[in-house]
Amino acid sequence: MTSYGPTLTRYLGDAHRGTPRLEAELAELIVEMGTAAKALAREIRRAALVGRLGLVGEKNPTGDAQKKLDVYSNDVVVSAFEDTGLVAAIVSEELEQLRVVSCASAARYILCVDPLDGSSNTDVNGSVGSIFSFYRRSAEGDCTDVETEFAGGAELAAAGYVMYGPSTIMVFSHGDGANGFTLDHDVGEFILSHEAIQCPPRGPYFSANLGNYHAWSDDLRGFVDDLIAGGPATGRPCSLRYTGALVADLHRNLLEGGIYLYPPDENHPRGKLRLLYECAPMAFIAEQAGGRATDGADRVLDLTPASIHQTTPLFIGSREMLDSFERRAARGG
Ligand code: AHG
Ligand code: MN
Ligand code: MN
Repeated sequence: MTSYGPTLTRYLGDAHRGTPRLEAELAELIVEMGTAAKALAREIRRAALVGRLGLVGEKNPTGDAQKKLDVYSNDVVVSAFEDTGLVAAIVSEELEQLRVVSCASAARYILCVDPLDGSSNTDVNGSVGSIFSFYRRSAEGDCTDVETEFAGGAELAAAGYVMYGPSTIMVFSHGDGANGFTLDHDVGEFILSHEAIQCPPRGPYFSANLGNYHAWSDDLRGFVDDLIAGGPATGRPCSLRYTGALVADLHRNLLEGGIYLYPPDENHPRGKLRLLYECAPMAFIAEQAGGRATDGADRVLDLTPASIHQTTPLFIGSREMLDSFERRAARGG
């Protein structure tokens, strides 16, 4: 018998009545992200037909060449949240500054978003994603004090990602496990398809840009050499899976087990991925699924950014693979 789970809206309604109780406003914001994701899924699917492939000709605040779909995705997400009345400020990969939206007391959340993750894949019909998180705004202030608002990741209320692949799937957590909802395009609804995702403690995959191998530290090269060599713990070499979209690579590793790493290298001495709208939301999901995420020394969710576009090294995925990584790094070489 085919089973057809609850819609995202019904699930959120149940979560609002359940324990722990999902705040109604947070449920509303997650529905809003679902609506934005439907619009993005549609535009990504038809981008080649409506002139939305290729570059804009500008650089974004972290120096990446912007794709037309980056700009479109940012416009859709920002405009979806701007008039909800629930969001005090928005941090986006595509916005130079934190954008203050409302200082009203009802606006209790700050949205951090990577509107389009993996945008090098847009022109080759590869998987892309969106990453989002909602921080609780501090009681006082105008939300512009980054160190106060984002201290230690503790105020992260909910986070998730959307993967636009052969199907569109939204995975999110409000601190009660991680669940995935697949978009039924014909019905126009996200339907619960991956309930209570559990990341296996070990897995057969690793994901990293091996083109940077010679720029990594000896410790890290040693760890990756061990993964490729295999050994008694795994019984086989780990397989490399790397698409160039964190969302797609981590989605695989969360479901089937594996480790994703974007370490520091000569070109990215503090890592490449951005803490607020890439690493922290994905760390939140990974932990909720039983996995782990570190910057090589500290838990990602304990890091406090000094600026909104701050980058960090990222090691994330299956718990025991992260443990092995830490033991290898501690041993040296
Ligand atoms: P974005 O498209 O939002 O800038 O993110 C790209 C990120 C991440 O998704 C991916 O894993 C990584 O950058 C790829 O970087 P390399 O091309 O350096 O491997
Ligand atoms: Mn990204
Ligand atoms: Mn992006």
